[in-house]
Amino acid sequence: MSKPNQTLGEFIIENQTAFKYTSGELSRLLNSIRLAAKVVNHEVNKAGLVDIIGNAGDTNIQGEDQQKLDVYANDKFIQTLTKRNIVCGIASEEEDDFIAINSQDENNQNKYVVLIDPLDGSSNIDVNVSVGTIFSIYRRVTPLGTPVTLEDFLQKGSAQVAAGYVVYGTSTMLVYTTGYGVNGFTLNPAIGSYYLSHPNMQFPEDGNIYSVNEGNYSDFPVGIKKYIKYCQQDEDERPYTSRYIGSLVSDFHRNMIKGGIYMYPKSTKNPKGKLRLLYECNPMAFIAEQANGKASDGFTRIMDIQPTELHERVPFICGSKNMVEKAEEFMRNEQ
Ligand code: AHG
Ligand code: MN
Ligand code: MN
Repeated sequence: MSKPNQTLGEFIIENQTAFKYTSGELSRLLNSIRLAAKVVNHEVNKAGLVDIIGNAGDTNIQGEDQQKLDVYANDKFIQTLTKRNIVCGIASEEEDDFIAINSQDENNQNKYVVLIDPLDGSSNIDVNVSVGTIFSIYRRVTPLGTPVTLEDFLQKGSAQVAAGYVVYGTSTMLVYTTGYGVNGFTLNPAIGSYYLSHPNMQFPEDGNIYSVNEGNYSDFPVGIKKYIKYCQQDEDERPYTSRYIGSLVSDFHRNMIKGGIYMYPKSTKNPKGKLRLLYECNPMAFIAEQANGKASDGFTRIMDIQPTELHERVPFICGSKNMVEKAEEFMRNEQ
């Protein structure tokens, strides 16, 4: 279904007939995310100028307060989705509670909710390392025209309608799935359009990269420690190499292209893991599975976990199928 030189806008329209519940609403929603991501991209690119144009907390030349980039990104995505009246609710890693959008208005027929990590890897901004945005889209489960409730957000990952990420890297890319494979689009900043550059992305079944914060090694479960040791041994020609950026989006993106495994296990410091089930793990798990990869908490498929709270954390192991299965085997053996 992909054509050379196709823009993201064209691709969304052309493929909307493939969606299960066609109404154009999901296309409009994806278009809004595409637009907000362009605005955020512009701001992220200026991060290095912070000493010249001011820090968060300063006042800029127009007399406005400068915001931290994660707050800025959060506001931009929420504003875009709210003003265009395109969803009935939003939950964000940056907000304590979910936001209901005109959902008590019985004329509001918007059926989707969005969950978002507006800026992932934000500790990397100051050092000019790639950051990202992660989004996840569900159909609400409560009736149209009634206020959205927590139940609309606490759905299993397997109910996702679409998910994606933007990586603000050496190039800016938007990668997403609607359940029919994964496609990647690269932003041409001169023109402001995203072009289909990575059609039908797939995790290699096997890879040689493992990505984990080894600074936490002594606190990891025994199964993870043993899996890391397995990766480090060079007997039997296991050519593993370690790569860890500290931005989930960037680590995932590299591993999907080159083949690898990403792990954020539980530790003494983070007894439930660090990453958020709803804003980070579920969308990445959906993309991984759609790209022939796998995502698990070590024992259970991520998308089968029933969430019980918005900001729930979960151990996360994700990437090339054979590597994730191997790590799970180590976990099971040490249970
Ligand atoms: P966020 O910036 O949205 O809080 O997410 C940071 C996450 C994730 O992107 C990254 O993989 C992980 O935290 C890194 O954590 P450590 O610094 O503990 O390794
Ligand atoms: Mn994050
Ligand atoms: Mn974040």
